[in-house]
Amino acid sequence: MGLTKRIGNIPGMAKKQPLKSGEKILLGIFGAFFCLAAIGYVVLESVRLTSEKPMFTQTTFFNFSEEGKIGHGYYMKANCNACHRAVRSGTSMGLSLDGIGSKRSIDWLEQFLLEPERVYEGPTIDHGVGKEAGNIIARLSEDKIRPIAVFLSELKAVAGSSVSKVPPPERSEFIDGMVGSWAPEGWKEKYEDVRDRIKREEGEAADRDAADEEVIDAR
Ligand code: HEC
Repeated sequence: MGLTKRIGNIPGMAKKQPLKSGEKILLGIFGAFFCLAAIGYVVLESVRLTSEKPMFTQTTFFNFSEEGKIGHGYYMKANCNACHRAVRSGTSMGLSLDGIGSKRSIDWLEQFLLEPERVYEGPTIDHGVGKEAGNIIARLSEDKIRPIAVFLSELKAVAGSSVSKVPPPERSEFIDGMVGSWAPEGWKEKYEDVRDRIKREEGEAADRDAADEEVIDAR
């Protein structure tokens, strides 16, 4: 009370100064932006909450096995989240790992964690000997690497999304037509349709498993 009184009494300082017109304009502009942002937020949220269709389609999903859950625990404890994004948390400093299991195999992931430079066939930024992520992984005991790789391999993506190596299941007549008429003849021998390749690889893997089982049976 006493303080305000004393300040108010300083000579030459008016009790209540009216705003200058420049100040009014600035305040007005700021106010308009603020109101616009607030209205925009309210409209966006009300549309998002009442709309039947999700505004952002979710293209990654996960369904963890027991080992995957354990791996998730190791992943969180090792603070991989400091650079990566996965399972709806983390940062975007490094790569997002959501959906990585649809792009990389479990063995690839394990090998990457152990020997990133060799797997990348080139220099790395944070993974590798003496680097930040490399040091974190070097401090983990070796039996934790496999569960982390299992966890990562279970971060899946919907076919056709940007993180999946598999194109969407439905075929586009337009794209098929364009490829048919514009792709050079040589490409047909050089490249294989990813869908055909995946089917072939799955078939080969099944054959291999069957052969392995026969060997076991024969013993
Ligand atoms: C200091 C930041 C940082 C930390 C911590 C970190 N990473 Fe990474 N991670 C990166 C960067 C950057 C890349 C890209 C490769 C590179 O240049 O090192 C990467 C790449 C990867 C990849 C390969 C992705 C791909 O498809 O090429 C995997 C898998 C991965 N990190 C897993 C992990 C795990 C598991 C941990 C925790 C043990 C971890 N990272 C900790 C920064 C980090």
